[in-house]
Amino acid sequence: MLIAVGVSGGIGAYKAVEVVRGLQRRGHDVVAVMTANATRFVGPITFEAITRRPVITDQFEAGANADIEHIAIASTIDLLIIAPATANILGKLANGIADDFLSTLYLATRAPVLVAPAMNTQMFAHEAVRSNLDALAARGVRFVEPGEGYLACGWIGKGRLAEPDEIVAAAEDVLRPRGPLRSQRVLVTAGPTYEDVDPVRYLGNRSSGRMGFAIAGEAARRGAEVTLVAGPTSLDPPPVRELVRVRSAEQMHAAVLGRADDMHVVVMAAAVADYAPIEPSDQKVPKGGDTVTMVLKKTPDILAELGRRRIASGGGPLLVGFAAETERVVAHAAAKRESKHADLFVANDVSRADAGFGVDTNAVTIVGPDGSETLPLQSKSRVAIAILDRIEALLTAHPAKTSG
Ligand code: CTP
Repeated sequence: MLIAVGVSGGIGAYKAVEVVRGLQRRGHDVVAVMTANATRFVGPITFEAITRRPVITDQFEAGANADIEHIAIASTIDLLIIAPATANILGKLANGIADDFLSTLYLATRAPVLVAPAMNTQMFAHEAVRSNLDALAARGVRFVEPGEGYLACGWIGKGRLAEPDEIVAAAEDVLRPRGPLRSQRVLVTAGPTYEDVDPVRYLGNRSSGRMGFAIAGEAARRGAEVTLVAGPTSLDPPPVRELVRVRSAEQMHAAVLGRADDMHVVVMAAAVADYAPIEPSDQKVPKGGDTVTMVLKKTPDILAELGRRRIASGGGPLLVGFAAETERVVAHAAAKRESKHADLFVANDVSRADAGFGVDTNAVTIVGPDGSETLPLQSKSRVAIAILDRIEALLTAHPAKTSG
């Protein structure tokens, strides 16, 4: 997970270094964001060295706003932690004031927010601070309470920043998936299949695997045990429990059918070839006359076979299919959903230049048992979120009937 650790200007700022380390030990990637005052307590170079990323210190730094990664942080982080959070930053967060990068990030992100306040005892007890904390809690912000004891300012009481271990444990708790996909076994297929003609030639298609990878990654983030069956792609796969690399439709068929009975959900996002050469040649086929005729045989329809199995057994995983269409998109997808006995069909208008094969965005319509929903053009990772929301809703309404 990518976690932003926001550090505001308090004596506890040095403890944020240990928070970052603790998160990294648990396998998280961390980006540090510091307010101007925080840099008076700890140098940004310390955070830069341990996070191995540039530290974001000022919204108006020359060039910083042109940095795509910097701007994208708001939508890519899985959690925003603010530790220590001073009375000042709490006041800004509670009132929607965005005058530096950290307070702006709070408004811009939709990731969960975990705040560890730290300040003088009297300040922490002040009604102004209490009402800011209440306002933030009402918005779903989670807190790690300050500890009691000697404070740097000489007071004894509540206000000292919670211990780094406690903050890390609270972060793990916030990140722990709680939805219906948690611990469910989900198989996702992705990418194209290549059907060999001879040792150097094949019939393929333009699928990049992006959509399937985004679904597999999002399912894993939601706590599912994901098996990803991927055709030939050049993209890096997301972290999943099992990655199975296949080449042809035949191999994908074997990989999916061999595992489907154990699954709660199967998402067929792969662009499986419908036809393959009858028998690939062992030797390279030499050039011949002006035209050539190739005879192809139908490949096994994996999704249709899963659909038939579920009709025969009355159980089996929830099934999701994809339809690449160039016309009458929804009608075709609805017909495929019926004929393959799938629960959801995601229809994809591949005639648009900004959707479908090889691009980062997609415009889809999800066809389900209760009608269809057309989503606006958006990134494939956002589309994956919408598809998994639909899957979770179906799982809640009708838990999948599998053997285990
Ligand atoms: N599919 C499959 N096995 C195949 C072919 C397709 O499991 N041999 C799956 C795809 O992964 C996808 C869905 O079936 O989820 C697509 O259905 P299909 O009827 O093949 O649609 P198109 O590929 O769009 O085919 P057509 O050319 O018939 O429109």
